[in-house]
Amino acid sequence: MIDIKENISLKPYHTFHMDIQARYFVEYDTVAELKELLASSLLKDNKFLHIGGGSNLLFTKDYDGVVLHSRMNSVRRMDGGNDFVYVVAESGMVWDDFVAYCVDAGLGGVENLSNIPGEVGASAIQNIGAYGVEVKDVIDSVFCIDVETLQERVFSNAECRYSYRSSIFKQELRGRYIVTAVKYVLRKKPEFRLEYGNLRTILGDAPISLESVRNAVITVRSRKLPDPDIVGSAGSFFVNPIVGREHYSRLLSEYPGMPAYPAEEGKVKLSAAWLIDNAGGHGKRVGGAAVYHKQCLVIVNENDAFPEDVVALAELIRKCVFEKYNVELTPEVNFI
Ligand code: EPU
Repeated sequence: MIDIKENISLKPYHTFHMDIQARYFVEYDTVAELKELLASSLLKDNKFLHIGGGSNLLFTKDYDGVVLHSRMNSVRRMDGGNDFVYVVAESGMVWDDFVAYCVDAGLGGVENLSNIPGEVGASAIQNIGAYGVEVKDVIDSVFCIDVETLQERVFSNAECRYSYRSSIFKQELRGRYIVTAVKYVLRKKPEFRLEYGNLRTILGDAPISLESVRNAVITVRSRKLPDPDIVGSAGSFFVNPIVGREHYSRLLSEYPGMPAYPAEEGKVKLSAAWLIDNAGGHGKRVGGAAVYHKQCLVIVNENDAFPEDVVALAELIRKCVFEKYNVELTPEVNFI
């Protein structure tokens, strides 16, 4: 059923939990309904924004248009031969329910991505990642609707042009397609990835299984990241910046303890959290917004923050990091 609400607060629908008003909030249960909506005057006459779990958004003011959300959340598995199983999940399935489904079914590949807020559709747009795994590693293909022609189109993994926290859906084709389902390819015999940070230490002597890895990831995340149901945030506010070798060498000679990781095309990925921390970001606040005390990369809505507070704090952080390191931080969060 198509469900249209008018003049509604988006507070429950985005993880910063600010009291933003939307002119319309519209949910649908099938692809046919989505097409019907796209062809309707409601969407033709108003601007619209499709959201998932609202976990990567900052509404900077009330939204005078249609906020769309998928309630499609079925999941099914398909044979993938001796070693693999395909799992097709619809866009509105809560991401962590999908991870739990795979772990319960004994299928490996997404256990390191446990407990990430958000939904399946956005996972494929954003290329979510954590603890040494990115979702592109397990995406086979992405099912979409073209918002202009209403045609269905399936993008192969290669066509999605995945890179660190990005895809074609965030670049050239931004706003052009709505993801309706994602086909993932998972392993019958898991290959564990335990090199990141202190995952192994947390696992200790426990036998390594999909469940124990999932639990270890949940433990690390809950130590460092706020639970969005309790403290509003959008996870990492900035992406980790990627710099050229020369820039990195100059920084390293001045700051020998600086963490860095190899990135695409021989470049170097720096730790935004470390840069913010060491540029004096720890404890900074503007109005009700604050740098999260356990992880400097996260901005939290500590005390009834206004969007302006978050914007001003983000700007202040960018300025501190730029002045000290000559590195530009780019928000991971989408400003609406
Ligand atoms: N660090 C500091 N100060 C801090 C926090 C961290 O110096 O306040 C240092 C740590 O000591 C560590 C480094 O920063 O050496 C990296 O920290 P962490 O392992 O927490 O990873 P991150 O780079 O800050 C990224 C992702 C997270 C993901 C974690 C774990 C991005 C933008 N963020 O954070 O993803 O959970 O790795 O894999 O890539 C998200 O995207 O919303 C998100 C939470």
